[in-house]
Amino acid sequence: MIDLLRSGLPLQFDEESRVMNFIGSLVPVEPDVRRLSRSRDFYRDPQALGPEELYFMYRGVSQLWDIPLFENQELRYDITVVFPGKIGQECLRTIGHYHPACLASQRGLTFPEVYEVLAGVATYYLQRMNQDGSVADVAVMEAHPGEKCLIPPGYGHITINARREVLVMANLIERNFASRYQDFQQKRGPAYYGEYSTKGVRFVPNGNYGAVPPLRRIQPSEDQAAGITFGAPLYEAFLRSPDTFRYLVNPDQYPQDWEEVLANP
Ligand SMILES: [Fe+2]
Repeated sequence: MIDLLRSGLPLQFDEESRVMNFIGSLVPVEPDVRRLSRSRDFYRDPQALGPEELYFMYRGVSQLWDIPLFENQELRYDITVVFPGKIGQECLRTIGHYHPACLASQRGLTFPEVYEVLAGVATYYLQRMNQDGSVADVAVMEAHPGEKCLIPPGYGHITINARREVLVMANLIERNFASRYQDFQQKRGPAYYGEYSTKGVRFVPNGNYGAVPPLRRIQPSEDQAAGITFGAPLYEAFLRSPDTFRYLVNPDQYPQDWEEVLANP
């Protein structure tokens, strides 16, 4: 049993039965299951062997009494369970997506998102494209329980589970938009594939992208003004100061410069 108290919520995930226990006044949520048989276009080798169940997405997790707050703030809190394993040579990962542009943004920015690791280790892969279809930037961050990753506007993102244990993470996001999957589908995944190796993840360029810039390794970092601290669960940070997260609904309201977010070495 994986205790997910780190989320600030009475949650447990039973690895044996693959059931999430929503305890007390938590509203039970049925997961959307991402299956390999329906996702083969997103991986390098469409014939690759791998587990059929890749990851579970529990969308809209909350305490009963917090539902109106999430609705009023136009945000949603989700939990994702990513199983360990391989798809061919690739580490098991999410299929990846981009977010659409936020209509309220004067600058045409796409919606950002905040991730938080609850159990296991996440490797967050982010990539941004140029207008001409070339790859502008690729950044990779390894994050451990309690650490958070702010996905800035413009970045497509994938979560890799490169460990032999279950990865559980939370995210906070604008609740009404639909993600865009076709870009990663057409290229059969990201600009770099994360392969298993004895030294951890080995990133190998995806030939469907042409020339790719060097992959940058970045570290998780706190961002107090954006409500991102490693000491407090994301759920609690949101309850304590909902308006701090307005930038998730309109990225123009981010208190700092978006360019700085992935800039750390
Ligand atoms: Fe996302």
